[in-house]
Amino acid sequence: MAKKPKTVYACSECGGQQPKWFGRCPDCGAWDSLVEEAGGEPESKPLGSGLHGGRPTPLPEVRPGGEARITTGIDELDRALGGGLVPGAAVLIGGEPGVGKSTLQLQMAAGLAESHSVLYVTGEESSAQVAERAGRLGVRDKPLQLLAETDLDTILARLQETGAGLAVVDSVQTVADGALSSAPGSVAQVRECAARLVRYAKQTGTVLCLVGHVTKEGALAGPRVLEHMVDTVLYFEGEQGGQYRLVRAIKNRFGAMNELGVFRMTGGGLEAVANPSALFLSDHPEPVPGSAVVASQEGSRPLLVELQALVAESPLTQPRRVALGVERERLSLLLAVLYRHAGVALFDQDVFVNVVGGVDLSEPAGDLAVAAALVSSLRSRALPQKTVILGEVGLGGEVRPVGRMEDRLREAAKLGFERAVIPAASADGLGQPGLTVEPVRRIDRALEVLLDG
Ligand code: TYD
Ligand code: MG
Repeated sequence: MAKKPKTVYACSECGGQQPKWFGRCPDCGAWDSLVEEAGGEPESKPLGSGLHGGRPTPLPEVRPGGEARITTGIDELDRALGGGLVPGAAVLIGGEPGVGKSTLQLQMAAGLAESHSVLYVTGEESSAQVAERAGRLGVRDKPLQLLAETDLDTILARLQETGAGLAVVDSVQTVADGALSSAPGSVAQVRECAARLVRYAKQTGTVLCLVGHVTKEGALAGPRVLEHMVDTVLYFEGEQGGQYRLVRAIKNRFGAMNELGVFRMTGGGLEAVANPSALFLSDHPEPVPGSAVVASQEGSRPLLVELQALVAESPLTQPRRVALGVERERLSLLLAVLYRHAGVALFDQDVFVNVVGGVDLSEPAGDLAVAAALVSSLRSRALPQKTVILGEVGLGGEVRPVGRMEDRLREAAKLGFERAVIPAASADGLGQPGLTVEPVRRIDRALEVLLDG
């Protein structure tokens, strides 16, 4: 029986479906994100349905998974993955166009092709273009199977025929299921194609790597829904045009979240950077107002990161608040706390905050450093050199403890920092040779220690 054709409106941000068009998605609040989709009900069954014949199995008889990791041979990638690839797992690799997704996937696929059967599906570039890139990466002779194809059924058929143990689909936005009338890259297509590919991977134990583009807002284009379907989501960070690339696990069923791999883009592809902790410090010969250093903890790895703030009198009735690498809401919160608890008013100032190297400072441990950088810029007075600043700032102006203080301070001491301003609650019994620890309880006191000393 033919299904009645029906039109739904799907949100390209969250994937939510609406019976009619709205200017703003009722589910996620994104503006102008609803696009018309044909079809109505998603065609896919939920993941897992029918996998085990629909019968329960006693727990002791279920073979535990996850033990057989496939290491990619690229240390920093393995680190981000939590130790390597897991058979049957689906990994989504997201990032802006040109950031290096295809490069990394081709390097990985070629490396694994020596020991595994690998199929690289290219939907964006021709086989010739991929071969050319392989030449530049020095992996032209690896026994990798290339398939230039965008039709989902054909891709699934070839996967089955070749029995590939690892499949890369670059990109999931180019793949289309002929049974759906919507265009490749639409939410309905991306969701359906990803669901069927993931189901295939689970059923056969194939490792599946899906490459996905993100929009300029940073959302995995349309396929935010994909994040729920896959086991691991890796996301590229890094400045456009900059030489470093960070690959961060923002979700991982087989490892820790926020685990970070660091790479350098070179003429021969992405090169792992084994000791990146000092990469994101700029080298000022003179102390510079508005610059602060925080010892952040990215997954299991401490990373010293420089924050820069610029505060300038605004000609606008609504002064600008620009935050790169720091959440805007976090910045607003800090501005309010600075006003209420430290008497620093920035209402009539444009405020810019940037994290050096395009790092995303996702943890609140950077709060105090952001606040200090802002006040330092406002007063045109540099923060003391060789000083790291750590602490979450609460709405009451209190400086709250942060985790893994010892690791952070050890790294700071190793890189030649001499002073650390940290939350009193984290300071007990901590000490690193060569590093003076100054515990603080409140934001106003921290600013005194840093700027009035
Ligand atoms: P690419 O992997 O094509 O990005 P994506 O798949 O995420 O869109 O990376 C393209 C960029 O990387 C491009 O600007 C050129 C650069 N690049 C190098 O610098 N060296 C290399 O060896 C390669 C292959 C690419
Ligand atoms: Mg690409």
